[in-house]
Amino acid sequence: MIEARHLKKTYEGRTVLGDVSLRIGEGEIVGLYGPSGIGKSTVARILCGLVRPEAGEVFLDGQRLVSAGSPYDRRLGRAVQMVFQQPHAALDPSQKIGAGLWELIRVHRLADSRRAAEELLSEQLERVGLSLPILSRRPHQISGGEAQRVCLARCLLLRPRLLILDEATSMLDVCTQANVLAPVRRETENLRGSVLFISHDRALTDRFCGRIYEMESEILKEVP
Ligand SMILES: Nc1ncnc2c1ncn2[C@@H]1O[C@H](COP(=O)(O)OP(=O)(O)OP(=O)(O)O)[C@@H](O)[C@H]1O
Ligand SMILES: [Mg+2]
Repeated sequence: MIEARHLKKTYEGRTVLGDVSLRIGEGEIVGLYGPSGIGKSTVARILCGLVRPEAGEVFLDGQRLVSAGSPYDRRLGRAVQMVFQQPHAALDPSQKIGAGLWELIRVHRLADSRRAAEELLSEQLERVGLSLPILSRRPHQISGGEAQRVCLARCLLLRPRLLILDEATSMLDVCTQANVLAPVRRETENLRGSVLFISHDRALTDRFCGRIYEMESEILKEVP
């Protein structure tokens, strides 16, 4: 359902992605593993429209999402959601956590009554192991791991076709990590979505992912 072909990206004359191709099927959790600074987040940023490739193209459900010659299709791209490596950067510092989540539900019409919205919200918080008091705090009043889980809850609310987790559980202890990833796996299988799971933790990637790409200098190789 998502396919990237021959992506290339250079920063200041230095090639980060030389010829990167990857494919993720429906209901599949695919890992992207590799050392720091190799280009994993750059791949993710291309898939969600933050970086434009200099060559190559990306297709989502057979439709072109972006290519070197055409800009990112924002309408199609709504089906792609990413939990960023720096979770606090993705949260509006002036807004309470609850206000941000309410706004998301309202803008995307995820519930048709206040009651339904409240249920959706508490269900989603429970799923990522958070409780209601977090809603009245601002981003600087929550921990890194809590911020990661708020970001994950936001993405899950939107039921994306492709969920990109970029070191999205790196600040969580092993037990919380397992508790948070279990519902992600369930939803992926139930809704036939796809997950790109980026990590430099090989053991975690092995445990969570059905298939794994390893990033080496400028390219991806599928781990047999
Ligand atoms: N906007 C930018 N301008 C210049 N160089 C950049 C930019 N963004 C990333 N880079 C460089 O590109 C390389 C790949 O960065 P990227 O963030 O994709 O790595 P990564 O594999 O995600 O690393 P990590 O595991 O540390 O998150 C790094 O050397 C980084 O310094
Ligand atoms: Mg990164």
